[in-house]
Amino acid sequence: MNSEPSTLSTAYRTHTCGALRPEQIGAHVALAGWVQNWRDHGGVVFVDLRDRHGLTQVVFNPEIAPDSHRLAHTVRSEFVLRIEGEVIPRPEGTVNPSLPTGEIEVSVNRAEILNAAKTPPFMVDELGEVAENLRLQYRYLDLRRQPMQQTLIFRHRLTTLVRAFLDQWGFLDLETPMLTKSTPEGARDYLVPSRTHPGHFFALPQSPQLFKQLFMVAGFDRYFQITRCFRDEDLRADRQPEFTQIDMEMSFVEPEDIYRLIEEMMAGIFKKLMDIELPRPFARLTYTEAMDRCGLDAPDIRFDLPLVDLGGVFADTEFKVFRGVLDTGGIIKGLNLKGGARLSRKEIDDLLEVVKVYGARGLAWIKVSAEGWQSPIVKFFSDDESRALGERMGAVPGDLLLFVADKAAIANEALGRLRVHLAKMTGLIDEEAFSFCWVTDFPLLEYDAGERRHVAIHHPFTAPRDEDVALLESDPGDVRAKAYDLVLNGIEVGGGSIRIHRREVQEKMFSLLNIGDEEAREKFGFLLDALEYGAPPHGGIAFGLDRLVMLLQRLDSIRDVIAFPKTQKATCLLTGAPSTVQARQLRDLGIKPA
Ligand code: AMO
Ligand code: AMP
Repeated sequence: MNSEPSTLSTAYRTHTCGALRPEQIGAHVALAGWVQNWRDHGGVVFVDLRDRHGLTQVVFNPEIAPDSHRLAHTVRSEFVLRIEGEVIPRPEGTVNPSLPTGEIEVSVNRAEILNAAKTPPFMVDELGEVAENLRLQYRYLDLRRQPMQQTLIFRHRLTTLVRAFLDQWGFLDLETPMLTKSTPEGARDYLVPSRTHPGHFFALPQSPQLFKQLFMVAGFDRYFQITRCFRDEDLRADRQPEFTQIDMEMSFVEPEDIYRLIEEMMAGIFKKLMDIELPRPFARLTYTEAMDRCGLDAPDIRFDLPLVDLGGVFADTEFKVFRGVLDTGGIIKGLNLKGGARLSRKEIDDLLEVVKVYGARGLAWIKVSAEGWQSPIVKFFSDDESRALGERMGAVPGDLLLFVADKAAIANEALGRLRVHLAKMTGLIDEEAFSFCWVTDFPLLEYDAGERRHVAIHHPFTAPRDEDVALLESDPGDVRAKAYDLVLNGIEVGGGSIRIHRREVQEKMFSLLNIGDEEAREKFGFLLDALEYGAPPHGGIAFGLDRLVMLLQRLDSIRDVIAFPKTQKATCLLTGAPSTVQARQLRDLGIKPA
C-alpha cells in the first residue's frame, strides 16, 4: 500500500517520483524531478524522472501531446522537468518488479523544463568508481547519487532516533558556544582572531567538554547535543578536522549507569534502523587486557588470534636480539597464525613491511611442521626454550608463529596491527558482524618523553579511580581513570569518563600535568571556580557520529558520510577553502599579511 504523506505535495507536484502505485491508475498527477535517462522508442519518448524518493517512468506520446513530445526531444540528463499526466498501467511484459513504481507509468499531457543542465562530469547513476577529487569538487552532483543519498538519509534517521531516545531518558538538548576558549582534547586548535581585541583569539571547540560540565554544575542533570567539533590534527580515513559528536553528560552517575544507557541506545539504533538484535551486555575489556591480548586500546574482537607474552619463556635467552630488548625493559610478544605455515617467504617478508610501519625493527617467524620447525632464529634457542615456546603458543603442525621484540609501545602496536592485517588477509573476520566492546580502566596519565611530563590519556578533567587516588602522589603512572571507550569492530566510536568534581582534585591533576597555578587559573579558572559552588558528581561520553555512521553503513571512509567533507589535506575542493582574504580584513583584525 502506498501511503505517501500529502505534506510532500506542493505547487509543483502532487506526488514524488517514488510514490505512484497501481492504486493511482487513472489519476491525473504532477511530478517534478531530474531526468535520469531518456530513450526514444519508435517515436514514443521514455524519460526516467528521479527525485530522492524514487524513479518514475514518464511517457511522451506524439499522438497524445505533440507539444510535450517535441519538448521531450530537447531534454538531457539532469534537466529539471515538471510533467502532468495520467497514471496508466505499464503494458504487459514491461513491468519492472525491481522498481517500487515499476507497475505504472505516467502518460504525459503537459511538460515544462524548469531548468537545463550541462553535461555532468560524471553520471549520477554511474555505479562504478568516480575519482574522489571530482566527486568532492562537484559534491552537489555526487550527493544526487543513490549511495550518498542513502547514507545521508540513514544519518538523519540515526540522529532523529538518538534525539528521541535521549529525550525519553530525560536529556535536554542544550547548546554551547562555537567561539570559545581552547578546551584541550589533545589536538591543535582552530583559532579565530578577535577584531574587537586585536591580538586575542577565540578557539573553535575541540569538544563541548567544559561547558557540558558547567551544565551539570547548573543543575540541568542530563544534557546532550549533536554538535560540531574542530581539531587541527593529522587526518586519516576515520578523522576529519570538523566532525560531529553525539555529546552527553549526566549528574549523579557511575560508569555502570552510562554503560546501561548507551547499550540501550545502541540496541535501539540497530534494531530500528537495521533490524539487528545486538547481544547485550556488550563485552568489556580492561585497558590492560586489551593491550595484552590485542596490542591496541581499540581491540577488534570479531576474531580471536590473541597476542601472547613471551617474556617468561625467554627470560634467560642468549639470542642477542631478544636479550638486548629484555635487558632494556622491552617485551617479546608473539601470535600463532593457524595454518600460516603455508605462507611463502615473500609473503612473510611482506608481513615484516607491515610491522615496520609501526616502528618494529624485525619480525621473527617459525613455521611449524610435522618434520620440525623451520625458522632463521630457532638455532639460537635452547631446547627448553623451544619446548616452552611451543607450549605457550599452542603450536601444532601447520602453524606460523610470529614475534616482535621491542619497546612495549612499539611491540604492542606493531603486533596489534599485524593481528588485524592477518585476520583480514586470511578471512578470519566476519564482515557482517558488529562487535561492540567497552574498554575500561584506562590509565589516567601517560608519560610524554618528548615533553618530559605526564599528559592526560583522556583529558585533564577525568577522575581517578577512588582506590587509586592515594597513588597520585607516589606513582601517578599507575593511577587508573574512571574512563571508558566504546569500540566497534576495532574502531573507537566513543569515549568518556566520570569527571573530577572537587576543586582540590582538579588542581592536583593540573599540577601532575605540569600546569602551574597561574596557567591553570588563566586557562581554567572559570572551571575551578565553578567546582567550588556545589558541583555534583557527574560524567558523560561523546560519540563520533561520522564514525558510527561509517561503520554502520559498512563504509571505509569518513568522507563518505559527511555531506561536505574536507580532503586529507584539510581543504574543501568545492568552495576552495581555506583561501586568502583581503588585506583590509587582516588590517581590521590587527594581523600583518604574511
Ligand atoms: P574524544 O576526544 O574521545 O572525547 O572524542 C569522542 C569521539 O569523537 C570521535 N572523534 C573524531 N571523529 C572524527 N574525526 C576526528 N578528528 C575525531 N576525533 C574524535 C571519536 C571519539 O571516540 N569530550 C570528550 C568526551 C567526554 O569525555 O565525554 C571527547 O571529546 O569517535
Ligand atoms: P638479525 O640478527 O637482525 O638478522 O635478525 C634475525 C631474525 O630476528 C630475523 O628474522 C629478524 O627479522 C628477527 N628480528 C630482528 N629484530 C627483531 C625484533 N626486534 N623483534 C623480532 N624479531 C626480530
